[in-house]
Amino acid sequence: MWEHCFWKAHTARAALWILMVEIANFTALMALPPPDPQFVLRGTSAAVHTLHFSCGGPEPDAPLLFSGSENGFIHVWNLKTHRVDTALDGHGRKSVCFVETMGGKDWLLSQGRDQRICLWDLAEGRTSVTDSVFTEHVGFCRCSLLQVAQGRWLMAMAARSLEEVQILELPSKTSVCTLKPEVGAKLGMPMCLKLWQLSCGSQPVLLAGYEDGSVVLWNVSTGKALSRLTCHQEPVMSLDFDSEKAKGISGSSEKVLSIWSLNEQQNLQVYKTHELVNAGISDITIRPDKKILATAGWDHRIRIFGWKKLKPLAVLDYHTATVHCVSFSDHSSPPDRLLAAGSKDQRISVWSIYAQT
Ligand SMILES: *[C@@H]1O[C@H](CO)[C@@H](O)[C@H](O)[C@H]1NC(C)=O
Repeated sequence: MWEHCFWKAHTARAALWILMVEIANFTALMALPPPDPQFVLRGTSAAVHTLHFSCGGPEPDAPLLFSGSENGFIHVWNLKTHRVDTALDGHGRKSVCFVETMGGKDWLLSQGRDQRICLWDLAEGRTSVTDSVFTEHVGFCRCSLLQVAQGRWLMAMAARSLEEVQILELPSKTSVCTLKPEVGAKLGMPMCLKLWQLSCGSQPVLLAGYEDGSVVLWNVSTGKALSRLTCHQEPVMSLDFDSEKAKGISGSSEKVLSIWSLNEQQNLQVYKTHELVNAGISDITIRPDKKILATAGWDHRIRIFGWKKLKPLAVLDYHTATVHCVSFSDHSSPPDRLLAAGSKDQRISVWSIYAQT
């Protein structure tokens, strides 16, 4: 009897899976992830708010995964053993909303709800905060980091003054500019930020999503807004941008994804919208190869789309609470192509996006 039930469930699942593969067959770009996570990381003891893969683990081909949790801890996960290598405590037990390595795995930037951004030295087993920036920002806006030269980064962060974004150069912490909306623009607080540049060495620009549902393109060199597009009725929760296709995507608490494009005159325009099954997107990320993207849903689900046509490819149903963050590894070889998702259910699910080839 039990065996029979199990088999039925298994068959139904496999059938669903085949259906999803059928849908995806329009492009031979990928094989789909299995319907179960490749593995699950447990032990954060708190909701997971941010994830970041970094190359260059102890073995050169094994990426490390960094996670930031609501209890203020940053965990460095060994993806071979599925255990925590290091736990970092630097945000006064306040939620960690952003982690990103800077040029390898030895330097880490983290941001917490203690209104601090910390720079960690993790080389040779060290775990010390060598520098920090007090943001004075009370919202949930994650900062954005862009390497502009060898050993030089720009960081965008929501500033103390409610509507402003500040750009700093790192590691010097020199202020580059402050991006202030025009008087009367009523954008509200910045909610999500994405620094990018067309090519290495070109002028950096910032895309910022605001509380009023707008996305604004800022020239970081002049501190001037180049374009503004209202793409949501609600605060923009997350956005990502593909500079090759000059197209971006954003999500909010609504039941819709907005895809917008940037024309040669630097104007943002709505390209199309995509109706979702359930409302609420916490995070969106386009895979580094720009072929697919993942969304983190308030409906506990991770959704995978083809980026070119926003074709729904898979629904990854594992978590039992809101998914807060999704992150792709930037390893180019198929077996290491991983997607990680962090949830309020305190678990991190790791998925292999390519099937065995
Ligand atoms: C930003 O401003 C600088 C200086 O005026 C200019 O050279 C650059 O082309 C501008 N960038 C964009 C993307 O418009």
